[in-house]
Amino acid sequence: MQLWFMTGNKGKLLEAKHAFSPLGFNVEQFVINGTIPEIIEPQCDTLEEVADAKITQGIELLKSIGKESDALLVEDSGFFIDALGGFPGVYSAYVLEKIGCEGVLKLINSLESLNASFRASACLWDGNIIHRGSGICPGKLVDSIRGVNGFGYDPIFTPFDYLNNSINGLTFGEVEIGIKENFSHRKKALDEVLLSLNNTTN
Ligand code: IMP
Repeated sequence: MQLWFMTGNKGKLLEAKHAFSPLGFNVEQFVINGTIPEIIEPQCDTLEEVADAKITQGIELLKSIGKESDALLVEDSGFFIDALGGFPGVYSAYVLEKIGCEGVLKLINSLESLNASFRASACLWDGNIIHRGSGICPGKLVDSIRGVNGFGYDPIFTPFDYLNNSINGLTFGEVEIGIKENFSHRKKALDEVLLSLNNTTN
């Protein structure tokens, strides 16, 4: 099955390909005339609202090129620091662009708790209806940038599961994509989407 993923983020694309390809999906970046379509991201409080706005716009774009029966995936995600009331959350991409992981580490210097989580909300249009899924990956910030894998906040975050098992305390930046996938918020969201898709097609 052909599945268009509407994202400009290569890291997200790689993870979606890794998750869906073994299941027979051909995941490709959604482009129109070779260009990633412009999406207006509304200033919403939740990832779910942003993902809904993205899929609504995506379906309209599919319609505009006569491909509304194709499958389309969108996803919105963010990094939530507990002691900062969930900041940067829906502003994660903006904050990372402005201050980078170095800036985030300075920001958390005096915080009592380093607990944080990644969250993702995904929507998949199957050509007929929208399937929704969400996922959370709880863990902790570490005190330095570690590893070159992944993207975004990956080098400064370790999931709680890593602290409790053999990959003790490694960051997402220090592990391969297949290991991150076992714990990732994105994989959980995509799994929920797939479950919903399978429930309607079976
Ligand atoms: P958006 O979904 O395009 O609004 O961007 C979400 C932002 O959150 C990304 O640009 C990353 O900075 C961050 N983020 C989301 N998921 C991950 C992840 O799996 N690893 C690292 N950073 C992430």
